[in-house]
Amino acid sequence: MKSLINFAHRGASAYCPENTIAAFKKALELGATGIETDVQLTKDGRVVVIHDESLARTAGLNRLVKDTGYDELQTLDAGGWFAPEFRGERIPSLEQLLLLVSDTGTIVNIELKNGYVQYPGLEQKVIDLVREHQMTERVVISSFNHYSLALCKQLAPEIRTGILYMEGLYRPWDYAMSLHADALHAFKPAVTAEWVAEAAAHGIDYHPFTVNDREEMERLIDCGVAGIITDYPDRLAEALTGRGA
Ligand code: G3P
Ligand code: MG
Repeated sequence: MKSLINFAHRGASAYCPENTIAAFKKALELGATGIETDVQLTKDGRVVVIHDESLARTAGLNRLVKDTGYDELQTLDAGGWFAPEFRGERIPSLEQLLLLVSDTGTIVNIELKNGYVQYPGLEQKVIDLVREHQMTERVVISSFNHYSLALCKQLAPEIRTGILYMEGLYRPWDYAMSLHADALHAFKPAVTAEWVAEAAAHGIDYHPFTVNDREEMERLIDCGVAGIITDYPDRLAEALTGRGA
């Protein structure tokens, strides 16, 4: 049986500023076997790792990522908002993250943040980087933008895709298959053992998000999910160790 993937959401974001190299390193230290991260494009077309479309919350500049060049982004502090000891953390490029994990066996869940802001060409750029770093077998591309996931499959059938959704999708495995997707990244309540089994029978994995509560982790492990996305990879690692997994 495959081991459940422990995806650290935006890195170990409970302990470090989200989507920074510090958060990714901490995730690996705490036993994560996967990293979830969010990507967008800068004004000059670089793929960077940041959750919000605006730089205001995590980098202190009231401007959109898409209107800011990569060099200027590198001057911003992406750590001090979280705690003083993280001052000086930067907004990483996707390439930096791939380089960090390329020798570790870590799975990378790259979420395309192209809902509110459209980023023409984002799919191809992400695919090019993943191929360049020989990570095609260790990446799942996810998004709430399912047109984008369909495009990724057309451009790179060898890279796994995961459908992000909140709840209420009827027979989501049928929908996933219609997009040639590989996984369902469901909001955690939208997961039952019966659905996980049915999806698995069709070759589709469940990777619910964002699960921070130990009891809920245990419930989802019992459901047979293939991965869990959490801000606390240490809690999940502990739950898995407790079961001898
Ligand atoms: O991948 C699950 C989760 O990251 C989706 O929501 O807003 O945290 O990117 P968000
Ligand atoms: Mg995300």
